[in-house]
Amino acid sequence: MTPVERLALRTRFGLTQAARVGWYAAQNRAGVRAGREAGEGLPPPPKPVIEAPAGVPERATLLKQVRQLLARDLANIEAGLYPMPKDEPDGLRGMFARRDLYLKDIPAIVRRRATGSHQELDRSGATRPRYYMQNFHFQTDGWMSEESAKLYDTQVETLFFGAAAAMRRQGLVPIAEMVRARDQRRLKMLDVASGSGAFLADVRHAFPRLPVIASDLSEPYLGLARQRVRRAGGAALSGAVVGAAEALPFAADTFDLVSNIYLFHELPPKVRPLVAGELARVLSPGGRLIVIDSLQTGDNLELDGLLELFPQLFHEPYYRSYVTEDMIGLFEGRGLTLVASWAAFVSKVMVFEKAPR
Ligand SMILES: C[S@@+](CC[C@H](N)C(=O)[O-])C[C@H]1O[C@@H](n2cnc3c(N)ncnc32)[C@H](O)[C@@H]1O
Repeated sequence: MTPVERLALRTRFGLTQAARVGWYAAQNRAGVRAGREAGEGLPPPPKPVIEAPAGVPERATLLKQVRQLLARDLANIEAGLYPMPKDEPDGLRGMFARRDLYLKDIPAIVRRRATGSHQELDRSGATRPRYYMQNFHFQTDGWMSEESAKLYDTQVETLFFGAAAAMRRQGLVPIAEMVRARDQRRLKMLDVASGSGAFLADVRHAFPRLPVIASDLSEPYLGLARQRVRRAGGAALSGAVVGAAEALPFAADTFDLVSNIYLFHELPPKVRPLVAGELARVLSPGGRLIVIDSLQTGDNLELDGLLELFPQLFHEPYYRSYVTEDMIGLFEGRGLTLVASWAAFVSKVMVFEKAPR
C-alpha cells in the first residue's frame, strides 16, 4: 500500500466509523430519554447494586475503549486480514427506519422491565427449549418474530455505541489466517447461533467463496441472515439450519471452521457444556473454533461494573453465571486447545484448535 493509499484508507475508515459511533451514541441518549418518558407512572425499577471497585464506567471511558477497538480493527484492515467493512448496507434510509423501530419499541421494553415481565411468548406446543422461549433483553417477541430480528442489531449497536460490528470483525482474524494457507473454496465453515447474520455478512464480504452454513433456533433471524449474506455478494449460504446448538445435526469432524458469537451468555449453566461438546465434536481435526462473547469478571477491571449493571437493566437470566464460567475449561475438556484470546471492548475473542489427526 502506498502512503497515499494508506492515508485515503485511514481517512475513509476514520470518517465512517466516527459517523457510526456518533449515530449510535446519539440513539443511546435518545433511548435513555424515551425510556425515562415511558417510565413515568410505572413503578421505578430497583436501583442497580454495583460492587466492582471501579463502579460503572463513565461514557468517556467507554468511548476511549471503543477507540482502542477501532484502532485494532483498522490495523487488521491495513494488514490485509479483511477489507474495509460495509457497515449499514441499507444506507441512511434503512438506518432511520431502524432507529424509528427501535424508539417505538422502548415503551414496551420499559413496561416489561418495570413489571419484570419476560414470559410473554406463547409456549403452548413450543418445539424449542423452555429456557429459550423468553423475552431476552425484555425484547418484544424474544427471538421469535421478524420484527424482533429487524430490530436486534440496532438495539445491540445502540447499547455499544456502534462498536458491535467491530467486535464481531475480530472473529475474521483467525479465519483470514486459515484462508491465507488454504484455498477458501475447499474449506467448510459452520456458524452456530447466527442470529440476524451480522457476522455472516462480514465473513461473506471478506471471503466471498468460503462455503458457510448458518444455524440458529430462530427461523425469522435465520431468514434475515440469509438475506444479508445474499446482499453482501459472493456465494449464498450453503445452508441455513434451524436447530439447537446442543444437538447439531452434523457428523463429527465436519467443519474446518466453527464460529459462535454471543451465545454462551444466553445459555443456562447446564446447557453450556452440551453446546461446547457439540462445537468441539463437529470441528475437524486441525480445525479452528472461534468463540466471541461478553467479557467475564476480571478480564478488564475498568469494565467489571458494567458486567454487573447489564443483567440488572436487561432480562439476561444466565449472564451472572456466565461471567464466572470457566470458558476455556469447557472447551479444553473436550479435546480443544486455546491458541489465542484477546479482549475487544466489552467482548472477548477465544480461538481454539483441535489437534490434527
Ligand atoms: C445474542 S444473539 C447472537 C446472534 C449473533 N451470533 C450475533 O452475533 O449477533 C443469540 C442468538 O442465539 C440463538 N440461540 C439461543 N439459544 C440457542 C440454542 N440453544 N441453539 C441455537 N441458537 C440459540 C438466538 O436465537 C439468537 O439468534
